[in-house]
Amino acid sequence: MPPWLSQLSSALTKESKLISSRWMQLATIGIDNTPRVRTVVFRGWTDSFEMEIYTDKRSQKYYELNVNNNVEICWVFINSKCQFRFRGTSIIDLGKDNLRHWNQLSDTSKSMWGWPKPGDHYIHDKEIESSFKGEEKLSHNFSLLKIEIKHVDQLIIRKPIHIRRKWVKKEEWIEERINP
Ligand SMILES: Cc1cc2nc3c(=O)[nH]c(=O)nc-3n(C[C@H](O)[C@H](O)[C@H](O)COP(=O)(O)O)c2cc1C
Repeated sequence: MPPWLSQLSSALTKESKLISSRWMQLATIGIDNTPRVRTVVFRGWTDSFEMEIYTDKRSQKYYELNVNNNVEICWVFINSKCQFRFRGTSIIDLGKDNLRHWNQLSDTSKSMWGWPKPGDHYIHDKEIESSFKGEEKLSHNFSLLKIEIKHVDQLIIRKPIHIRRKWVKKEEWIEERINP
């Protein structure tokens, strides 16, 4: 188990009643080499402690990650006044884990992957909107992203002095207390 996971799990457990406790900011490098950031939902960990996120294959981030898979994730726990920043690389998984995650989704959630292409011009059509239903069968647009984490930075806002540490993955994880 990576050494930072207990800190993260304890913040997540403490704030589990807040729906926003599972919302994180995922930053990518845009096709034009400028930064992009958006909110995503944390979906869990793989057996090797990669972070799991769901996305739509038609989204901009999906194209970006195919060109440059370096990411940073910022995850803040409001009550604990604790911020984690994770650096790593994303892996697109379209295999059996993808299908397992799809099968766990509710019909309402499944229907989102059948909406028109994200980012395209909106065309209002009441009939089409009321006909979006969750398909049982795996949507071609659904993709599981796994984030392999290589660097973690934690900051806890405390009095009289904030606490900051970092963990860097070499052969093993190396922890260092650093100035806030
Ligand atoms: C609370 C919240 C949770 C979200 N969760 C996800 C998510 O898990 N996956 C996702 O692809 N987009 C999620 N989104 C939408 C993204 O923030 C973003 O608008 C969308 O993915 C398009 O981003 P892109 O054009 O950079 O690809 C969420 C938005 C909000 C406000």
